Amino acid sequence: MSPPDLTHTPVLRGELVELRPVTPADVARLHALMGDLEVSRLTGSIHADDEVDELPWSVDQLQAIYARWATDVDRVVWAVVDRESDQVVGESVLLDHDPGNASIGFRIWISGARGRGLGTEATRLSVRHAIEELGLHRVELEVYAFNPRARHVYEKVGFVLEGTRREALRYADGWVDCHVMGLLASDWAGSHDAQPPPPGE
Ligand SMILES: CC(C)(COP(=O)(O)OP(=O)(O)OC[C@H]1O[C@@H](n2cnc3c(N)ncnc32)[C@H](O)[C@@H]1OP(=O)(O)O)[C@@H](O)C(=O)NCCC(=O)NCCS
Repeated sequence: MSPPDLTHTPVLRGELVELRPVTPADVARLHALMGDLEVSRLTGSIHADDEVDELPWSVDQLQAIYARWATDVDRVVWAVVDRESDQVVGESVLLDHDPGNASIGFRIWISGARGRGLGTEATRLSVRHAIEELGLHRVELEVYAFNPRARHVYEKVGFVLEGTRREALRYADGWVDCHVMGLLASDWAGSHDAQPPPPGE
């Protein structure tokens, strides 16, 4: 079977969010949102709270990164748009596509619109795309032990804890475990989020 084409980033619409390709006009806003301490800390982008003031990328560098990602064959990058405000509030990414094993990674962050269900819906839309549209067998992710909210969201969508990379993150004066979670196509098919098969199947 030929591997799926990841160079096309479709628009995915839910009730609360729209996932759409990142445009150059979005990048300054995404850069500003990345300055959110919770986003930087919980995605492992920094090692202490005060590092959030020194983001490793300028807006120009981020423009180049998003332009490259848009054509990458191993990832799909969406801007998460809050349908209520019509504002970009984060990103949702399928990455590290492994065609030989029909698997892919997932990550997400949201700023300024957390706790309203957007992250859950964006995760479901992204996973549905990976399993039902791209035909992949497995989606995997990592979540730090100091992020029970994200873990709860992932479990709600159907991810299963598979193991722990002990003390994988150095943060401030301590070490943080990193949990590995995975979702198989068979897990998704058995969940209430899966699309029903077409009539006659
Ligand atoms: C993780 C993230 C994407 C979730 O998106 P969100 O829009 O905030 O999440 P939702 O509103 O859809 O759902 C949050 C759920 O977590 C629950 N929750 C909130 N705080 C929690 C906590 N401390 N422990 C457990 N569950 C918690 C909420 O009750 C809700 O669950 P429910 O719908 O069953 O009641 C978002 O919070 C985020 O981007 N956080 C910062 C960056 C990050 O953590 N990225 C993920 C890295 S792995």
